[in-house]
Amino acid sequence: MTFEKQKSMKKDRRQFLKNTSLAALATVTLPSTLRAELNSEIASETLANCNPTTLDYYGQGPFYSANSPLIINNQLAVGNEPGTRFIISGRVHNLDCTEYIAGAIIDIWHADDAGQYDNTGFNLRGKTTSNSQGFYLFESIYPGKYLNGSSYRPAHIHFKITPPSYPVLTTQLYFQGDSDNSTDAAASISSGTYDATHRIIPVTTNSFGQKEATWDIILDGEGNPVGIEEMRSTMGMIYKIYPNPFSDFIQINYGVFQKAKVSIQVFDIQGNLVAKLQDLNLKPEKYTAEWKPDSNIISGHYFVALKINDVQVHYLKVIKN
Ligand SMILES: [Fe+2]
Repeated sequence: MTFEKQKSMKKDRRQFLKNTSLAALATVTLPSTLRAELNSEIASETLANCNPTTLDYYGQGPFYSANSPLIINNQLAVGNEPGTRFIISGRVHNLDCTEYIAGAIIDIWHADDAGQYDNTGFNLRGKTTSNSQGFYLFESIYPGKYLNGSSYRPAHIHFKITPPSYPVLTTQLYFQGDSDNSTDAAASISSGTYDATHRIIPVTTNSFGQKEATWDIILDGEGNPVGIEEMRSTMGMIYKIYPNPFSDFIQINYGVFQKAKVSIQVFDIQGNLVAKLQDLNLKPEKYTAEWKPDSNIISGHYFVALKINDVQVHYLKVIKN
């Protein structure tokens, strides 16, 4: 572990102790105090707003190929594909985010590092499916740019998303910080049917030097109940998980705002339950759960979910080294 990491863990620990003692002092008004306190701490990668995913002005564009193959092991780009590795993940929700949608087919295509599409084969083209918990993830490379007339289109990824028994949504995803977003005829639209505002998403770089982005897809469909923002703020939330990425141990800090049956579950990217950490009747308070994965748990992405009275009110993504 690096010194920087140790330092940050100590800081987290101090902050946690400080918060815990504050909460203990405020026993009488605990639920509201706790709620306010944790709301301010909540990690930014969670579903902050429920903005339905909009269509893209350019529709599917000129480079769509039908019948692309299923993505194997979440790898849209082969390991030696030139470019910066880029991992996109998120969850598929219905229009008001009260349900998550399993089994949505997500058809993805984008240009290579040099801005070229494979128009004869299926390189950087493939389909994945939201898993039993509504999550999806794929790894590719950051797309290159190509000329559209006399100007470059911003980096973008094309999607066709088809929830079970509902129509397909065709759109494009853009990335914050791209200087061509503001001049692109599609990415620059900020209202109406083709509003791209919530399809220009932040990109971070993880400890492996890979780019990462979270994109929740919100569209017409039916699924399973999930906690919406309001439920999270009245029932409970995960407010910190560290270290993340982690190797052999992870600590999950969460708050419960009402007396309830509470469980913490860990799912892999296929939606398989890999760990059930707690399943208890709890009163309003801050709690800590720990996960020491078995040796058969492989490296990769996992989702830690908080269930309150059998409703999944919150999740965070973690990476096991
Ligand atoms: Fe394109």
